[in-house]
Amino acid sequence: MGIGTAKPVTQSDATDLRDPAYLKIRDVIYQVSGIYQPEEKLYLLASRCAGRMGAVNAKTPAEYLEHLTVRANREAELRLLLNEITIGETYMFRSPAQLEALRRVILPQILEAKSALGFKRLHLWSAGCSTGEEAYTLSMFLREESEAMLKGWTVDILATDLNDHSLTVAKAGIYGEYALRSTTELLRRKYFKPHDDKRLQVTDPLKSLIRFERVNLRDDSKMTFFKGMDIIFCCNVLIYFDLNSKRKVMQHFYSNLLPGGYLFLGHAESLYQVDDRFHLVHFPGAIGYWKPPVGYTGGGKP
Ligand SMILES: C[S@@+](CC[C@H](N)C(=O)[O-])C[C@H]1O[C@@H](n2cnc3c(N)ncnc32)[C@H](O)[C@@H]1O
Repeated sequence: MGIGTAKPVTQSDATDLRDPAYLKIRDVIYQVSGIYQPEEKLYLLASRCAGRMGAVNAKTPAEYLEHLTVRANREAELRLLLNEITIGETYMFRSPAQLEALRRVILPQILEAKSALGFKRLHLWSAGCSTGEEAYTLSMFLREESEAMLKGWTVDILATDLNDHSLTVAKAGIYGEYALRSTTELLRRKYFKPHDDKRLQVTDPLKSLIRFERVNLRDDSKMTFFKGMDIIFCCNVLIYFDLNSKRKVMQHFYSNLLPGGYLFLGHAESLYQVDDRFHLVHFPGAIGYWKPPVGYTGGGKP
């Protein structure tokens, strides 16, 4: 995800950047979403605001700030601005090493522990799923595994994001070559159908495992609803958060994970100085964060 670069920054934008209203808009976005834009990136925020300012006919950043903070429709306007700001870069099978860790270590471990307790349900969460590629990747992976390892299990994938546009794309499940560039011919034939001459659409068996929902990871009351997760993927989302926001989100993930569950982050992300309750687990090419079971004193698994 990145603050977009689509609109060129003009001289007048540059002049506007000295307007303190932009700093206030930046702070509003931070408070609501955890997304922090340093001052040197304010010009990108200004570009994104420009589109919305035109749409609501706000003549100045200060007037637009009013739309975000005091006008009756402020929540709706903030949501529309967040849709402009949170544009997610993603594609299918972005992290094969994480899937390999799931296949070789994590799933066998979790399935064994849950089977022993008589549970045969598996809950995964793709948090910050953008346009859905990560969730469909997990769905393909689990479908492929289901004949062997997951026979008799019920699996569901919660896929959430803040961006309404991304979620609409995710629910439609129509993808071009860019999203599918790491998806094998075999999997394309098995789980997709032709949509038009350039794009494929996911088939119902893939969709049926997934529930897409709008969730702001910084919405503390909403975040308490997603308990009982076995594995959470929150990849390439936290890089846009500051330390305080990361800590808050991690507190939720920790309490939402079942004991023995795992969290995966993106390659460039880590929990260093963010949360020391998770145990770091090294897999070939990937790092997982493990929530130890109650009473775990070290040794043994993982
Ligand atoms: C770069 S995409 C990551 C997509 C996918 N996880 C991957 O790694 O390929 C980052 C996503 O995080 C979402 N995001 C950013 N802040 C968020 C927040 N506070 N709550 C929920 N989603 C957020 C953005 O909307 C964007 O879709």
